[in-house]
Amino acid sequence: MKIVYWTFILSFILLSCGEGHKADMKDYGIIPMPNEIVSEQGNYVLQGEKTVAVSSDESSMKVFQYLENVLKNTSVQLKRIAPTEQADISLLIDTTLPDEAYTLEVSSHGIKICSNATAAGLFYGVQSLLQLMPVEIYDTHRKYENDIEIPAVRITDAPRFPYRGAMMDVGRNFLPKEEVLKFLDLMAFYKLNKFHFHLTDDQGWRIEIKKYPKLTEIGSYRKQTQVGHCDYYYPRRFDGKEKQGYYTQDEIREIVKYASDRFITIIPEIEMPGHASAALACYPELSCGLGKTYVVRDYFDVFDEVYCPKENTFDFLEDVLVEVMDLFPSHYIHIGGDECPKKAWKICDHCQTLMKREGLKDEEALQSWFIHRIEQFVNSKGRDIIGWDEILEGGLAPNATVMSWRGEEGGIEAARQKHKVIMTPGDKCYIDHYQESPEFAPLAIGGFIPLDSVYNYNPLPAELTPEEQAYIIGTQVNIWGEYIQTPEYFEYMAFPRLQAMSEVQWTQLKNKDFNSFVRRLDKEFKRLDFCGVNACRNFYEVNLTGAWNDVHHTYEVTLKTFCPGVEVYYAVNDSVVSSSSDLYKAPLALSEDATIYAAVYRDGKPLGKITRKSFAVNKATGNSYQCVPPPVVEKVNEGIGLTDGIRGYTRDLRRWAIFREDSVRITVDLGKPVSVSKIAFASLWRPFDTLWPASELCVSVSADGETFTSVGNQEYTYDFTQTEATRFPVSYSFPEVTARYIRLELLNGGLCPEGYYHAGQQSRLAIDEIEFY
Ligand code: ACM
Ligand code: ZN
Repeated sequence: MKIVYWTFILSFILLSCGEGHKADMKDYGIIPMPNEIVSEQGNYVLQGEKTVAVSSDESSMKVFQYLENVLKNTSVQLKRIAPTEQADISLLIDTTLPDEAYTLEVSSHGIKICSNATAAGLFYGVQSLLQLMPVEIYDTHRKYENDIEIPAVRITDAPRFPYRGAMMDVGRNFLPKEEVLKFLDLMAFYKLNKFHFHLTDDQGWRIEIKKYPKLTEIGSYRKQTQVGHCDYYYPRRFDGKEKQGYYTQDEIREIVKYASDRFITIIPEIEMPGHASAALACYPELSCGLGKTYVVRDYFDVFDEVYCPKENTFDFLEDVLVEVMDLFPSHYIHIGGDECPKKAWKICDHCQTLMKREGLKDEEALQSWFIHRIEQFVNSKGRDIIGWDEILEGGLAPNATVMSWRGEEGGIEAARQKHKVIMTPGDKCYIDHYQESPEFAPLAIGGFIPLDSVYNYNPLPAELTPEEQAYIIGTQVNIWGEYIQTPEYFEYMAFPRLQAMSEVQWTQLKNKDFNSFVRRLDKEFKRLDFCGVNACRNFYEVNLTGAWNDVHHTYEVTLKTFCPGVEVYYAVNDSVVSSSSDLYKAPLALSEDATIYAAVYRDGKPLGKITRKSFAVNKATGNSYQCVPPPVVEKVNEGIGLTDGIRGYTRDLRRWAIFREDSVRITVDLGKPVSVSKIAFASLWRPFDTLWPASELCVSVSADGETFTSVGNQEYTYDFTQTEATRFPVSYSFPEVTARYIRLELLNGGLCPEGYYHAGQQSRLAIDEIEFY
């Protein structure tokens, strides 16, 4: 094994701990970063009995009680006095401040926070104040008896966006009330103010509706749940575990109050017209009546059984919405609107007659009609609807706010139509996607959205004018629940990406700085630990990436970690890593296959677990190639993915080049004559995704790229008796040839066979890593 250190690459930024350009600005560990912090001399010592000047209005009192409650774990006792009196801590109303803005002044004499009369700003000022205190005050195992020293500062702050949300999906997997409350607490830490509560879906109905008791008697229960990813097993596997859960109306009221005490509005979502299986399992008469058995679904997909737009359905939905609006004071009611297949409506007499009567040209127009009608009802109660961006199809309801999830296009279109928009594009805001290497992470739905990707999101698209951008009221993260079975796993998905999102939502663009953020987050992890939050720890681990370096003509592996001020140690082909291992200083050059193991250390102590990654380095690595026809999808390292030194794995579709035609011709240009006697590659078998492995390989070589000579061919058969999606590696050996161009012609797997998903459809071919030896 040859390892070369490129010590001369001094300018290379190795770790994300490089000091940012705003490193001189003291940031005090506050997340999200405030607009302006001015450091002052000295500090304020909080201990013993302290007076708090605060008005007795309900909103100000909420803030006082919140602060008092947090400080119960310290030796500080707060005594409330009138706002006109001189006090140690003043929580005061200043009507000149915009909504949610605040000022916070800490001096050696006392603390003063001001906001307008909604007192939301007072609450956010208190959150910033608490972040200036030692995190140990949050230690639930030990009362904090020391003096609390708070640095003297003046902070002037206000949010960038009025809508700062997070969505929890309890439809797919119910989460207990305690977890909802804990999440609300954590949202409050980071000044989020909208909790989008996804309460109904195909796999469960989670809110008690007095008029329709079956919704929870039947709709909140399922016998079992799919195991693994929906793409993995054929046939599907189930866990055999009964699952049930819903919130009573009393519990909902408690949750709503808990949120309101933290200046968070809960926006309930009742899904329609699609994602309705759980409701239809209880009341099949609300469907188009396809003779189907309607059941609470035990696997994850988009289902054809949807609400039929008939009068009894509207009566039902209106009754449900009345109870929902009674429980949730939110101005916005989310009515879903996404992923509603039109199959049932197309063959339903009622739907077709209705379309003719109303002059609706297609089923998209019928969906729009459905949403318009629900909107009218919601508007008649003084509320407004939010819908997923599908509600644009067939025409937007007049007062609807659009939640843009299929990219930003829907949001852009809605803003141009002068509708309010919440941006939540899947590739930036869906934090149910992987955040650490999918190869080793706990199962997630797919994708890859690491911490920095969330952090760098800007919800204002450049293609909109400033006037159009003004319709974008904010952004949110969505934590879909298909693969989130437990509170611990929910927290793993949410944190620390929620903190990154809080800075997208709150912090002015000019103040955003990832280097500063990770410094503050390092401290914030301690508070999460004290609060018993199971955050993802890859912040303290090494992310290993490899790439061909064209300048140095070598394959280089880069080790990065988000955590600042640390050392990275590594070992090659050795799973034991310690502070006596090699210290990482510069990218490692590999000349053959290797597995690199690495870990993050601070002051000689490991901060996280050892991570690893294998790299395939061979005669093909880093060489260019041409595919005819080109792949239909190649999401990672497009154009070089087949020779990028990283073998695709079952978990991560993004790593594979996918071809749709019967055959593909891949010609690799080695740049100069090279002797080769073996070719290896792998294809992915995922029947759910119509992916079947290559059935035949023909190899030919050429000196000039024009005239090719056949080297031979090989047919392949596979063992499909296994039920799990599989990466099938194959190889082909031949007498050594020397050539600059090597061509692989691959035949795909033909039609998807009977007895599998998509039987009779043309299969596709997913290929990754082409290797020459
Ligand atoms: C969605 O992700 N179906 C809104
Ligand atoms: Zn119908």
